[in-house]
Amino acid sequence: MFDLVIKGGTIVTAADTYRADIGITGGSIAALGTGLEGNDSIDATGKLVLPGGIEAHCHIAQESATGGMTADDYRSGSISAAFGGNSCFVPFAAQHRGMGVTETLDLYDSRAEGASVIDYGYHLIVADPTEKVLTEELPAAFARGVTSFKVFMTYDLMKIDDRQFLDILTVAKENGALTMVHAENSGMIAWISDRLVKAGHTQPRYHAPSHPALAESEAINRAISLAKLVDAALLIVHVSTPEGAALVQGARLAGNKIFGETCAQYLFLTRDDLDRPGMEGAKFMCSPPLRDVATQEALWRHLQAGTFSVFSSDHAPYRFDDSGKLAKGPDASFKQIANGMPGIGLRLPLLFSEGVNAGRITLQQFAALSASNAAKLYGLTKKGSIAIGMDADIAIWDPEETRKVTVEDQHDNMDYTPFDGWTVKGWPVTVMTRGQRIVEGGELKAEPGYGQYVARERIDLTGIPGHRAVELDPDTNFGARIMPETKA
Ligand code: URP
Ligand code: ZN
Ligand code: ZN
Repeated sequence: MFDLVIKGGTIVTAADTYRADIGITGGSIAALGTGLEGNDSIDATGKLVLPGGIEAHCHIAQESATGGMTADDYRSGSISAAFGGNSCFVPFAAQHRGMGVTETLDLYDSRAEGASVIDYGYHLIVADPTEKVLTEELPAAFARGVTSFKVFMTYDLMKIDDRQFLDILTVAKENGALTMVHAENSGMIAWISDRLVKAGHTQPRYHAPSHPALAESEAINRAISLAKLVDAALLIVHVSTPEGAALVQGARLAGNKIFGETCAQYLFLTRDDLDRPGMEGAKFMCSPPLRDVATQEALWRHLQAGTFSVFSSDHAPYRFDDSGKLAKGPDASFKQIANGMPGIGLRLPLLFSEGVNAGRITLQQFAALSASNAAKLYGLTKKGSIAIGMDADIAIWDPEETRKVTVEDQHDNMDYTPFDGWTVKGWPVTVMTRGQRIVEGGELKAEPGYGQYVARERIDLTGIPGHRAVELDPDTNFGARIMPETKA
């Protein structure tokens, strides 16, 4: 007898689609088979049984460098994620200048503990890589299971320079951590923005031309070059251009430890949304910005071809009021409006509807992009698949259920969704974390605090050769720089 059996469903993993019951005991998957019996059961006949989603890029209870707080905390953010098919999420813990890393992680622990309904971890944002941070605090963060570090190449109060970037890549490599980067050229953006504002072009629509595709591709090229120099793993987050995607693809094909992520908004929205009347366009401001239809098509191709390992929401919720987007007044310039948009509850329904149901990606690709790849990259070794011994993190999808998107159905703290009125086909009807139903029948079934912190493992780079730059090879460069693994 199992605690719970999911009966009669069609199991979908990143590898296979097959019919089986799932026996769950003690929060783990204990058996896959037929005719399993349990103390409790769920009839999944006609449904798809998938790994519970892992939302790997979201901003929850996070202050921006200028002090604005996201609208969602760990309670509302996790609830919205769960209603959207996620069993686990990995928001950011943001170090700001002058803060220590340990202090930052303690702060986020206090924000998440007792609040989340699903399991969680954090990516650390490193904005102040002091000697102490590099030598003591990053290794200590890694030891407590924070195994990914994000850096910014833009935003005045967050950005690091190339030398600091190399330091962080090197520490990450020594520890087995993954560095993530927001890659946009800061100088290009500031230079164009200043000219636009001076010419009186302050409306939200000018956000897009102030962040040209070239600003992204230049920064991605530089970021990849820095990672190659020290042979470190690097994930380029929220890639928004074909040029950027091609750089990621090329680096991967050449055997480098380079990974890419794109986000829902770049597949489904365009810069025309920034052109809505009045300040409405502010709702669609994010960085990198929305592009055009040709870009959407190119990014779909890259998603299909495997350029992107991760597909995220980049949920960065700022309300359309003076607590968020309009904090600097109703006529604020595009430079003063918080960047980011909500979407944690729609990442997977949109991908299922427009990806699987529209025939653009397979169910296996959906499983990989929704959960399995993130689990592997981010060291969530008990999550992201349906196999014996794994956490029973499961999302049961009705592939036929059709929903019209409303703000209320997002269950977040937001007053808008960029996808208001969209119709999606395919819906996660039951979502569980470690065998506990979190959402079922349109209702929340778990208490805040059910979700547990997950200490993550090192990144698995099996099969990726990587390349050390010749300049750093002690055999060819007279030991000018001795890499750690070559020390006697
Ligand atoms: O505009 C965005 N994406 N805001 C969130 C912060 C970030 O850069 O990921
Ligand atoms: Zn970013
Ligand atoms: Zn982000």
